[in-house]
Order: sequence, then structure tokens, then C-alpha cells
Amino acid sequence: MHLSLLGTVCGLLVSLATAQSTFKPARPPSIPLAVRNPYLSTWFPAGSQFGNGGYLPGQWPRFWTGQIVAWTGLVRVDGKTFTWMGGPSDFEAASQVAFEYTSTKSIFTIEVDDKVTVKATFLSPITPNDFKRQSLIFSYLSVEVSSKDGQNHDVQLYTDISAEWISGDLNSVAQWDSGEVDGISYHKVWKQNQQLLTETNDRAEWGNWYYSTDAGGLTHQSGSDRTVRGAFRDKGELGNSKDTDFRAISNDWPVFGFAVDLGSVGSSPASTLFTVGLAQEIAIQFLGANGLNNVPSLWTDYFDNELAALSFFHKDFSESSRLSTELDSKVASDSVAAAGNNYLILTSLAVRQAFGAVQLVGTQAKHYLFLKEISSNGNMQTVDVFYPASPIFYYFNPELVRLLLDPHFENQESGHYPNKWAIHDLGTHYPNATGHADGNDEHMPVEECGNNIIMLLAYAQRTDNNDYLKQHYTIVKQWAEYLIEDSLLPAEQLSTDDFAGHLANQTNLALKGIIGLEATAQIASRIGETADAKNYSNIAHDYIAKWQDLGINKADNPSHTILTYNNASTHGLLYNLYNDRLVNTNLVPQSVYDMQSAFYPSVKDKYGVPLDTRNRYWTKGDWEIFCAAVASEETRDMFIGDYARWVGETPVSTPFTDLYNTNDGTHVAGIEFRARPVQGGMFALLVLK
Ligand SMILES: *[C@@H]1O[C@H](CO)[C@@H](O)[C@H](O)[C@H]1NC(C)=O
Ligand SMILES: *[C@@H]1O[C@H](CO)[C@@H](O)[C@H](O)[C@H]1NC(C)=O
Ligand SMILES: *[C@@H]1O[C@H](CO)[C@@H](O)[C@H](O)[C@H]1NC(C)=O
Ligand SMILES: *[C@@H]1O[C@H](CO)[C@@H](O)[C@H](O)[C@H]1NC(C)=O
Repeated sequence: MHLSLLGTVCGLLVSLATAQSTFKPARPPSIPLAVRNPYLSTWFPAGSQFGNGGYLPGQWPRFWTGQIVAWTGLVRVDGKTFTWMGGPSDFEAASQVAFEYTSTKSIFTIEVDDKVTVKATFLSPITPNDFKRQSLIFSYLSVEVSSKDGQNHDVQLYTDISAEWISGDLNSVAQWDSGEVDGISYHKVWKQNQQLLTETNDRAEWGNWYYSTDAGGLTHQSGSDRTVRGAFRDKGELGNSKDTDFRAISNDWPVFGFAVDLGSVGSSPASTLFTVGLAQEIAIQFLGANGLNNVPSLWTDYFDNELAALSFFHKDFSESSRLSTELDSKVASDSVAAAGNNYLILTSLAVRQAFGAVQLVGTQAKHYLFLKEISSNGNMQTVDVFYPASPIFYYFNPELVRLLLDPHFENQESGHYPNKWAIHDLGTHYPNATGHADGNDEHMPVEECGNNIIMLLAYAQRTDNNDYLKQHYTIVKQWAEYLIEDSLLPAEQLSTDDFAGHLANQTNLALKGIIGLEATAQIASRIGETADAKNYSNIAHDYIAKWQDLGINKADNPSHTILTYNNASTHGLLYNLYNDRLVNTNLVPQSVYDMQSAFYPSVKDKYGVPLDTRNRYWTKGDWEIFCAAVASEETRDMFIGDYARWVGETPVSTPFTDLYNTNDGTHVAGIEFRARPVQGGMFALLVLK
């Protein structure tokens, strides 16, 4: 890939030129900067593959795909200009000395010419119980400048975004404007030819982008990158002028800059707030109970227009920071209490990524949470993707799981899917939930029937919403009937690990189906269908006894479950055992848990335990954490310790991958999973009682 070569060269230059930075709690493969939904997803590559080690000055931020979305920070100290963010070539890079991440924040501390310190905090707020705030697709950048050497210095601060933010095609023509609302100055940038619900290279080709600030002593300017940044370098201020030559993104690179005169800066920090975000009135289309309809972003139901939304978000900074700090502390204390500091490395890195794959849509009266299967093919609302992600949603607010399931029930219950098993996804590509009326989705019958039933029960157990179970019992029974037919001896089919191919009699998949049957029994019991409950439970108990004979190699030392019934020399991560604890089915004897806990250490590599014997090194981090959650303490800590060490050591520089090689920590060749919501599965330990 051409990026790698370029990245390596730049990486070397930068690491030679800069001081060493500390990284707490670890140096992630890629650092989230502004990550709020599938389209506001701006990261900073840090691993060596095409990142520079995690140094904000000297390299461009990128969309999760790797496309550059230039975001620049300059600072002029006593007349001399330095870069504190991004890779503009004409300025000397300042020296980053510290980096830290929490669940919602990435914080860089950067020293400039030994004179001042710039502290840049990127806050992508998450409010799982407050949908008004959560619905907004905006993110904060707060910049504090203070004297480092005790002297006062004359300081001007500069930042811009380029038109690269607005489209995945550099030939797209950008249009722009600037304005003011409620004392907030903004640049507005959009693709001239709006293409509703369309993507290019995973980027949205519709909607308006905003870059805003309420700083005093402000000047602004649009124009070519050289012109606008050059004006700042020369004068420390911009021309309050607008370039009216609307043109292609890559034609003389239009940028949208702000300069702030901070005046004489001493040891007390001068603080400036910027916000960046995307306003799309229509977010998705959905084939539901009332046919196919465009569905608005949920924020449109709370605000009269996008400027009102922007104004609310900008002025909400102090409350939003407070809520975010509260959330950060909760994740930190719960994670450390559950499994120590290594565990916090994983959970806190997953939060923005998991929430960054979903968006609230609809109205306050009827809303949904839609999810993009980021990176693995862009499918809409994939069940076996929000299933591994679901622990983070149960942890923060179980209603979010209902909002993910709702569109599936609605689509299938209104007759839009012909198969008797559960659908895999609601559309081939986000943001189009157009369904699969022809039944030709990527079939994973046992996987998705099991997932839906288990998630539904886990939701009801955490909310006591038994009415919801009643509402959907007919289709749940339909899926349970399928599991009776096909869960003990699953026909040749895909499991969620589709990259590994089709296989018959998968031990781990069968386990999901069987637990799904016992979960159906519990659902039936919750709504008073006691005869059904008894019947499903009898079948599940019969199956689980047979499953132990078929799926375990008792002769090996240590003994273990096998990948597929008919091959004793196989093994794999038995991650579906997690379900037995998630919904307290208590179907599987403790001896199976103990056996797997004793077995995993015997097949571990440097960075983890391979997924299964179809490939010597591939593994899935989300499933490792599912295994860890139900393992002995020692084996749990092994899984978590290896994956946490991988975070800091991997050369991978794309957002937190769930699929990697256990020997050298690299990407699996040809399957570069990145930024996938499944990393919400890091919260698996925190939702077990
Ligand atoms: C979604 O569907 C619309 C037609 O309704 C189409 O124009 C658009 O390209 C589709 N988007 C994606 C990402 O496939
Ligand atoms: C699945 O396992 C059962 C039980 O061992 C066996 O009878 C059957 O042939 C296997 N199916 C396939 C397709 O291998
Ligand atoms: C139990 O369920 C199976 C499968 O649906 C059905 O064939 C059988 O009649 C049921 N038995 C009872 C006693 O309800
Ligand atoms: C059984 O699994 C092993 C390990 O994956 C594999 O090498 C072997 O070919 C398999 N045997 C059969 C008969 O499929």
C-alpha cells in the first residue's frame, strides 16, 4: 500500500526530530480525535505501519479508512510559528511530551520552543442516557496555552480544517460560507453536489460540516492552505475574508481557518474552544412497518435547525465535559475493580469506537439506533456485529440494545424477509436499511437466531420489560423452532467468523444455538407461557448433554472443546460459553469452564490465543475478552494482559482492530478489520453479575 512507505519515511523523520512523549495508559494503534458516528470519525495513526508513534505535530489526522482529513494547529510565539497539530510542510513541529486517553478524551501536551505549553484536549462526548446530547454529531477541541518558562509571551493560536472533511472524492467541488450564531463564529463547508444517502470511500456525500469557535480576538479566513496559513505566519491574524472560487477539494486545497490573538500569555492557561461536526437532516432510509422511508437524524426533533443544534452543543461544553468526566471515572473504577489496569487500557479505548459506529435516528416518539458494520463491508445493522458490541450497550444503557433490535423485529415482522431463520443484516450498505426482501442476505442462521434471542433476554433481564418479550414472542418461537432443527448438529454454514469460511458441526456455534433454546425457555417463562418454557428447556438440556459428547476431546491433555465435532485434533475459542453467564442459563457444567480455563494457556502465543485451528495465528480480540469474562482469574488475566500489551506494541496504525496475528501483532493480510463496533465487547466482564 502506498501509504505505508510514505508513513515509514515521515515517521522516522518525526521521531528523530521530536522529544519523547509519554503515553498513558498506553499508545493506541490509532488515537480517536473526533469520533461520533460512521461519518465523523477522525483518528490519528500512531502504530508504525503508517503512523509516527502518536505525535500530534508533524502528521495528518485521517478518517478511519486512512484517507487524510487535514486538521491543522499552529501557534505563533513571540513572532515565530510552530505546528502543534497536523503535517503542514512549512512550519517547524513543536515537541509533544505527553499523551493520555480516557473513554471520551485524547489529551496531548506539547511544548513550543521551550517557551509555552499547548494542551490540546479532543473530547467526543458520550451520553448514553441523554439522547438529546447523544444525537448531536459534533466533537470538541479545547486548547489551553500557558507559559512554560515563567516568562510572559506574545501568543496567537491558529487552526483550520480543509475541504477534505466533506467528501471521499478529492475531485468533489466544495462550497463554503462563514457566519455567526449566538456569539459563535463558524465556517460551514459542504459538497456542492449533494448526494443524499450516498457514500464514496465510506465518506458521506451529503450534509453540512461546521468548524466553530466562540473565542475573543478572533479573525477568520477561507482560501488556499498556503494563503491562509501564510497570512497567519506573517501577521498572526487572518483577513476576515472569503475565497469565493468554489472548487475541487484538491484544487489549491481550500482551508477554513481561525486565528485567535491570546495576547500576553503567562502561567495561567488561556483557553480556547473549537467544535467540529456534521449536520445531516436525513440520516438513513429504512424498510419498516410503513414501507421504505427516509429517516431523519434524531437531533432534528430536538432543534429547529442545524445552527440551533450547533449553538447548543458549543455552549454545552462545561456540562458536557462534566458528564464525560463522570463517565470516564465510572469506566475507570469499574474496569480496574473488575480486572486491573490492563483491562482499563481495553475498555477505555473501545468506548468512542463503539459509539462512533452508531447513530440515533427518528423522532422522540419513535427512534432507533442504527449501526454500520464499519470496515468489514459496510453492512447495515448486522446482528452478529452488534451482538459482540452489545456488552458496552448493556453496561451503559440496555435500552440501546432494544433500539438496535427494534428495526430487525419491525422489518421481519412486517413480512419483508422470506426465510424462517433470522436475517443477518438490514441492508447491504449503510445508510440504506432497505432489507433483503429476496432473502439473499449473508446467511448465518444459527448464529443470528441465537444472537437475537440471547440479546432479547439479556435486555429483558436488565429492564424487566416483559411486554417487549410478549410483543415479539411469535417470531422468537419461529427462530427457536429453527434452533431445534439445526443447533445440535449445525449444517455446513457460516458463523460470525465468516472470514474463516463455512463449516459443519461447529462446536462453538452449536453452543450458541443450544443456549438460545434455554434462553427461549426463560423468555417463555417470563411471559407466562409455562408449557413452552418446559418444552424448550427439556430440549436444551437434552442437547447440551449430547453436545458435551460430540464437542469435547477428553483424551487430549489438557482436554478441550474442538472446533468441529468430527475432528478431534482441532480447537478454538469457545466464546459462546459467555452467553450462559450473560443470561444466567446455567446450562453448561462448571467442569467445561474449568477445562477451557486450563486449556487456553497451553495454546497461547505472544499476543493471545488463536481463534481456531483453521489458522495458526489469527485471533479475534472481542472473542478473547468474551472467553476471559468466564475464565478463571489467572486465564482471564492472561487474555487481558496479552491484548493490552498488543495495544501498546502493535505496528498496526488503524483504529483498534479485533482481528490480528497472535505471533507478531500485525494485521491479518488482506483482512484489515479496523474501527469495528465489536470492540464494545471489551465490556464483557462488566455486565456479568
Ligand atoms: C442508498 O440508496 C440510494 C438510493 O435510494 C443510493 O443513491 C445510494 O447510493 C445508496 N447508498 C449506498 C451507500 O449504497
Ligand atoms: C455432524 O456430526 C454428526 C455427528 O457426529 C455426523 O453424523 C454428521 O455426519 C456430521 N455432519 C457433517 C456434515 O459432517
Ligand atoms: C415441544 O416442542 C416441539 C418443537 O416445537 C414440538 O414438536 C413438541 O410437540 C412440543 N412438545 C410439547 C409437549 O409441547
Ligand atoms: C482436522 O483438523 C486439523 C487441524 O486443523 C487439520 O490439519 C486436518 O486436516 C483436519 N482433518 C480432517 C479430516 O478434516
